[in-house]
Amino acid sequence: MSSRDGTEESSTECEVKRPKLVPLRGVPMPDIFLENWEAVESFQADPQDLLIATYPKAGTTWVQEIVDFILQDGDPERCRRAPIHSRIPYLEFNIPGHTPSGTELLAKLPSPKVIKTHLPFQLLPRSFLDQKCKIIYCARNAKDNLVSFFFFDLMNKVQPEPGSWEEYFHKFLQGNVSYGLWHDHVLGWWVNKDKYPILYIFYEDIKENPKQEILKIMRFLGKELPDAIVDRIVHHTSFQSMKANPMSNYSTVPANVFDRTMSTFMRKGVVGDWKNYFTVTQDEAFNSDYEQRMQGSDLQFRTEL
Ligand code: A3P
Repeated sequence: MSSRDGTEESSTECEVKRPKLVPLRGVPMPDIFLENWEAVESFQADPQDLLIATYPKAGTTWVQEIVDFILQDGDPERCRRAPIHSRIPYLEFNIPGHTPSGTELLAKLPSPKVIKTHLPFQLLPRSFLDQKCKIIYCARNAKDNLVSFFFFDLMNKVQPEPGSWEEYFHKFLQGNVSYGLWHDHVLGWWVNKDKYPILYIFYEDIKENPKQEILKIMRFLGKELPDAIVDRIVHHTSFQSMKANPMSNYSTVPANVFDRTMSTFMRKGVVGDWKNYFTVTQDEAFNSDYEQRMQGSDLQFRTEL
């Protein structure tokens, strides 16, 4: 299914029906993903496997690309071996009858594997914790995360219809989106970060100082690379480089899944874009809800740099 030349992958070109959200132990999930849930829940991780976990649109692809570059010793040619979603499969992904599921792709990859998930901590397959797998969790401030998720749901047919911006804004605050409440997700991983080998990082920190965060990830992975290679990784994982690279910009995903007339995957890649969309009323409502939900936690985010 992967194409190296940047043309779209050959998938069944019939229309993809947008899924409905159904609760999985209280967390709204696309119904089609749950058709493969047994395979996800019983997934057997190898102790050397690495998991990249995020709430959707928090910078997953960015961290995936950074990790692959580190593991491939900064060699761009090796990182161009396949699209990012084949190099680092998405564990719970499932569109029946269209493309292989995440668990099917993972079954074909040799260990150690790098795996992507958006699952909240409480839904993570037990094996990752039992095997003490290293996990990188990347979080992004809720306001930019919300804006990015709205534009993604407009273009991505594997997500429920987002409705208008105003409607989506309320859905997000109610946790009525895939993977549920942003607040529960970031807090669930935060409170568990010291009980397991979890590196908790922030989109805003990578944006502000990519080299420092890349070095942090390298140390966590137990890798050492010369400074010139680290600089090369900074360059190849910049927004501009990744946007131009068909192996990291999702341009290989067929148009019946990603409707690019609505938005693009590599959309803006900035901190503070929420200011272009939030009304004053929305900002006030957001802030008072945020204060309540995050009360008592020492988890802090930056909404501008
Ligand atoms: P925007 O929609 O705000 O542009 P995910 O990979 O979790 O789906 O997240 C996608 C978001 O991360 C998008 O945000 C995308 O532009 C941004 N992103 C991806 N690669 C990036 C990079 N190298 N630098 C900055 N942002 C990046």
